[in-house]
Amino acid sequence: MRVLGIETSCDETGVAVYDSDRGLLAHALFSQVGLHEAYGGVVPELASRDHVRKLLPLVTEVLAQAGLAAGEVDGVAFTAGPGLIGALLVGAMAGRSLAWAWDVPAIGVHHMEGHLLAPMLEDDPPAFPFVALLVSGGHTQLVAVQGIGRYRLLGESVDDAAGEAFDKTAKLLGLGYPGGPALARLAMQGRPGKFQFPRPMTQKPGLDFSFSGLKTHALTTIREAEASGSLDEQTRADIAYAFEEAVIDTLAIKCRRALEETGLSCLVIAGGVSANVRLREQLQQLSQSMGVQVCLPRPAFCTDNGAMIAFAGCQRLMAGESGDLSLAVRPRWPMTELSPPAA
Ligand code: KG4
Ligand code: ZN
Repeated sequence: MRVLGIETSCDETGVAVYDSDRGLLAHALFSQVGLHEAYGGVVPELASRDHVRKLLPLVTEVLAQAGLAAGEVDGVAFTAGPGLIGALLVGAMAGRSLAWAWDVPAIGVHHMEGHLLAPMLEDDPPAFPFVALLVSGGHTQLVAVQGIGRYRLLGESVDDAAGEAFDKTAKLLGLGYPGGPALARLAMQGRPGKFQFPRPMTQKPGLDFSFSGLKTHALTTIREAEASGSLDEQTRADIAYAFEEAVIDTLAIKCRRALEETGLSCLVIAGGVSANVRLREQLQQLSQSMGVQVCLPRPAFCTDNGAMIAFAGCQRLMAGESGDLSLAVRPRWPMTELSPPAA
């Protein structure tokens, strides 16, 4: 089965075609970074309008890349939530309309299920069951995954998501949007051991996270450095290093704990923060020390993209599931509400 995937939940327009026999045929992404940069964050209405402008040209481009004429697909998948409502509606309307015009089924995909399944696009795909760490701008969750749609929440952030903490701390350090990659770049110049940040919620049992305290710790550290006149470029890099190290250590400690508690031997990491180079390195070390398989998407498929939506939609469409003609999108949508693919 060949599926066109459309992702428009936030600030990237992503389109791809996935073929269940031949794999990923084509994908393209338009990032709105340049559009939102001046505002220091995503402006929802501007995001929706830009999806309107970019989506259909991207569909045309991706079909051409895949060597397909319009309509030469067996289904259309679009992100139905969670995300910005206006942005979601653009993808949903376009996806439903194309499917209707081409007389093929359409399906609304859960954005985080897309992230979760993204490592299956790689060469050494994970096999069910596994533990998944989902780390994006809106979510930090540890999930026990028995199969598609069979998700048991093991733990999640009680406040900021890891990506959100990266973004907010980046802002405190005077870095622009998008903050996570900018902070990670600055941290590359940082020196180990100059600052010590806490590893929140690692001393007591459990698999929940809390990252808002780290952001406050960063603020206090920055203010103290400012007051003592030592907040130069090197000090900012040292603070970025210590913050990043604390987030990554905390994520790794909880991953280890989740693997031990569930007895599972495969860990999947997905979502924007999984593009972080030092997180990837640390989890590879965890893989070696615990003798478990660690699966990560390639960096381009860690952050939002159309390929993961095409893939997730294809799995559900192949199982006979499809939506009706209504345009239901869900800005908030707990992943644990999903069910296995149903005809
Ligand atoms: O999955 P994603 O593209 O969008 C959401 O679904 O939220 O994740 C975006 C988040 C942002 O918070 C961004 O700062 C963070 O992922 N991020 C990173 C890196 N690349 C993206 N955080 C740390 N290091 C990175 N290299
Ligand atoms: Zn995402």
